[in-house]
Amino acid sequence: MISAPDSVGDSPDRYAVMGNPVAHSKSPMIHMAFAEQTRQNMIYRALQVTTGGLVRALGDFESQGGKGLNITVPFKELACRLVDDLTPRADRAGAVNTITFSDDGSRSGDNTDGVGLIRDMTDNHHIEIVGKRILVLGAGGAVRGIILPLFEQHPDSVVICNRTVDKARELVGYFGSSGNVSACGYAALPGAKFDLVINGTSASLNNQLPPLPEDLFSDCAWAYDMMYSDQETIFCSWALTHGASHATDGMGMLVEQAAESFFIWRGVRPRTQPIIAMLRSDSG
Ligand code: ATR
Repeated sequence: MISAPDSVGDSPDRYAVMGNPVAHSKSPMIHMAFAEQTRQNMIYRALQVTTGGLVRALGDFESQGGKGLNITVPFKELACRLVDDLTPRADRAGAVNTITFSDDGSRSGDNTDGVGLIRDMTDNHHIEIVGKRILVLGAGGAVRGIILPLFEQHPDSVVICNRTVDKARELVGYFGSSGNVSACGYAALPGAKFDLVINGTSASLNNQLPPLPEDLFSDCAWAYDMMYSDQETIFCSWALTHGASHATDGMGMLVEQAAESFFIWRGVRPRTQPIIAMLRSDSG
């Protein structure tokens, strides 16, 4: 007897990303490309959710048979409180970017941002983290999710620098027992030396630079911008013209975190390199 492929004739499983704004999200393109590559019968859409509308939007999606969601800005922290259980990494990050709806009616929350950053840095760019001095710019939701995954790679030290220094100090208070982490403001940066600078601020989104000292990259190999853009980000261009040997935006991180979500939902790990190449050529 010849059996038909699992998916033929079945209606596709439904997934989406919820956020605001979300219209320009690349997640639908990425997940549909993963689905095609791994032959999964699913659809994935971007759903704009109004401020205050997440509880209802989640309930509607679930009652219509949705299987899983990605959650993006500004709802990741709130999403933590709308699931039945959290993975340890989502719990520690205080933010959820991946929800799975189970057949028994339960909702699980996970966070794949940290693993996405680490995979992009170590697998795609071969950035050394062990024993390195790392500067993280920003102290918002995006940074909160990457501090523990960074420490799991055993850097020498992590300095969190933020415009509002108290927010950086708060993160140090939260993560202080995990490794050698300290807080500062931009005024303390001149003269300090780092091997890797990660921009976790939202400044690049507005085409702005944090107030960086001219010598920041004089002894620094890598600049990593967690934001991505169709053009080189202002942070990457500035780093390269001020002495950084290498700079990259967060397009690879975006694809890697998506691949981890896809794996959680479908149990299949897609190849990320072809999708990163596709996005780069689309934006080139
Ligand atoms: P996200 O969830 O993307 O991290 P967020 O929680 O609003 O967003 O945090 C944005 C971060 O970018 C903050 O650390 C913010 O600094 P403040 O806490 O001082 O506001 C930082 N940021 C935004 N624009 C910036 C700029 N032009 N220069 C320096 N830091 C900036």
